[in-house]
Amino acid sequence: MAIPEPRNRYQIMILYPITGFAPVARNSEIGYYPGMRQLIVGNWKMNGLKAESLARASEFRAFAEAEKPACDLLVCPPATLVEAVAKALAGSAIAVGGQDCHTEDKGAFTGDIAAAMVGDLGCRYVIVGHSERRRDHGENDTRVGAKATAAHRAGLMAIVCLGESAAERDAGRAETVVAAQLEGSWPQGGSPANTVVAYEPVWAIGTGRTPTVAEIAAIHGLMRTLIVARLGSDGHAVRLLYGGSVGPRNAAEILAIPNVDGALVGGASLKIEDFAAIARSCQAR
Ligand code: PGA
Repeated sequence: MAIPEPRNRYQIMILYPITGFAPVARNSEIGYYPGMRQLIVGNWKMNGLKAESLARASEFRAFAEAEKPACDLLVCPPATLVEAVAKALAGSAIAVGGQDCHTEDKGAFTGDIAAAMVGDLGCRYVIVGHSERRRDHGENDTRVGAKATAAHRAGLMAIVCLGESAAERDAGRAETVVAAQLEGSWPQGGSPANTVVAYEPVWAIGTGRTPTVAEIAAIHGLMRTLIVARLGSDGHAVRLLYGGSVGPRNAAEILAIPNVDGALVGGASLKIEDFAAIARSCQAR
């Protein structure tokens, strides 16, 4: 019997209660959208002063020029270094992004940065809703979605982060939580041209622990199904990244999982050997 295509997440939960995701015909044989290059993002977080960061940027540039890895590369330095790193990487294959932006385009928001300001520094991407911002700055799904929409107004690609906590996974609620976050954080007008989604289980960030291959496959399959339910076949072209303790040892295994279209890398993006090894693990498409 043919399995019907679900139209919304309630149907998915009824139709696919065990796996939580539908076997969408994206590419069940090859496991990816043809022609979509994987994206490796280095999130440098709050690390580095100018000299060491520029030295790292020039190592990254030399690597990309020498090896031309089969993936797209992006680094997201701290706000203070974005402009200098963007200049250092100008004309290279490595794009530069911000780590956050505000929901509003301008105004009385001391210490905050508008999306257009991020773009003005030479960025094409901005991360929104990282779990560290959700935790430390009280950002909820609505606010994260509004940040992504603000990024779009400024012509930036938004990387929308989400992921369950350890308690939520232990309670068997990982898929329900991710589905709700994706629905709640999805920006108005979100499309493959302006939105990337990063699944980052909170308990895997900076801990050296990762979900199993099957767990990552289940969550990424669920996200794909929800996005296809929303966008139709365009949803197959939205890049879905995995993040949380990605490093040279596990990158190849993670990047081979269906519906994993790249990685968001924290700690291992601070060392060229590790970042290069992850980039070399990409699946050529
Ligand atoms: P990690 O961080 O690679 O150090 O676990 C990932 C992230 O927070 O984006």
